[in-house]
Amino acid sequence: MSYYIGLMSGTSLDAIDAALVSFSNDQPVLHHAINYPLCESLRENIQALCTPGDNEIDRMGQLDIILGDTFAAAVKQLLTDADINATQIHAIGSHGQTIRHRPELEKGKCFTLQIGDPNTIAELTGITTVADFRRRDMAAGGQGAPLVPAFHAAFFSTGTHTRTILNIGGMANITLLPMDTKIPVSGFDTGPGNILLDSWIQQQQQRPFDYDGRWAASGTVNLHLLDTLLEDSFFQLPPPKSTGREYFNTSWLQQHLNRFSHTLAPIDVQATLSELTATSIADAIKKHATESKELVICGGGARNADLMQRIAKKLASTTIKTSDNYGLPAEWVEAVAFAWLARERLAQRPGNLPGVTGAYRPVVLGGVYTCGV
Ligand SMILES: Nc1ncnc2c1ncn2[C@@H]1O[C@H](COP(=O)(O)OP(=O)(O)OP(=O)(O)O)[C@@H](O)[C@H]1O
Ligand SMILES: [Mg+2]
Repeated sequence: MSYYIGLMSGTSLDAIDAALVSFSNDQPVLHHAINYPLCESLRENIQALCTPGDNEIDRMGQLDIILGDTFAAAVKQLLTDADINATQIHAIGSHGQTIRHRPELEKGKCFTLQIGDPNTIAELTGITTVADFRRRDMAAGGQGAPLVPAFHAAFFSTGTHTRTILNIGGMANITLLPMDTKIPVSGFDTGPGNILLDSWIQQQQQRPFDYDGRWAASGTVNLHLLDTLLEDSFFQLPPPKSTGREYFNTSWLQQHLNRFSHTLAPIDVQATLSELTATSIADAIKKHATESKELVICGGGARNADLMQRIAKKLASTTIKTSDNYGLPAEWVEAVAFAWLARERLAQRPGNLPGVTGAYRPVVLGGVYTCGV
């Protein structure tokens, strides 16, 4: 059997996801997956690079190599745990760590930057590595994101009914899968996913995330703050659109909190952020996925019970499932998608969807770092 490995380290900076995947009749089969921890100093250094600062080139250059090394270590751990030899792996698809995503700049100046040196990954693992998936789409006029909708289309399209896929990672993005597979798939980032929920609880309670959304569930939504946050122009922008932690972050939140003359209870801010996340997602679905009666949720946010309840309440007439119902656990979908994108790259098939990223044509995504001589 020929295996692929998908490596994902998303905006949440929670861990590196590594998934061992094979493909049977073009459908992915997940054999094993691990969360490989990011040590605190690494997480801090990544976070620091996500906002403009001094001496960025040196810091980025070093972090690029350190992350490449860490991604390789994650691969080796995965292989040991799964009792598989590196020679059995056809390729690694490594998303890399986004440190800047600027699709909103004027035409000709937009860029997106993922680090985690693929040369290092290939050299240390002995496995051909595919990386740098986003920039070819941008070169073809796209936003370089989101990329997982192509995988959603390949795996979740039904041919019998319209379906919407929602990924709740650091950011949230939706993919609209029409019943008629000849109609182009569309999709876009709806705004924050887990990012604000994680950032606020990290700042207030030094916990990595709000387990099951319990803290948010015990607070009260502040409607004034909610309305203020929802006024952000990103939510009104028409698709294609994408965003990142350089936009939705603690400074963004703080700017809005500063407009209040009194201090809000931290627990109520968490509840309001959960409501904001659910509302922005549900509004985007109601506006753009009018025909879709089924919603399939994936990404770590699918495990946040409070957030899931808030979304369900706002989309009462929609059947809501998680990707687990279709054999793919919600937390591994993105890593599996990058294993699939590596396979598409090696088969020279395009990996972007112009209806999603806004690119003027489908393009083959990613650079290949081979292990041959
Ligand atoms: N049991 C849980 N309760 C609440 N939140 C959870 C739970 N499990 C995971 N999460 C949330 O999921 C996040 C991780 O999600 P995920 O790995 O999909 O995001 P990511 O790495 O940012 O990926 P990307 O942004 O690329 O989609 C955690 O930071 C946390 O907010
Ligand atoms: Mg993650």
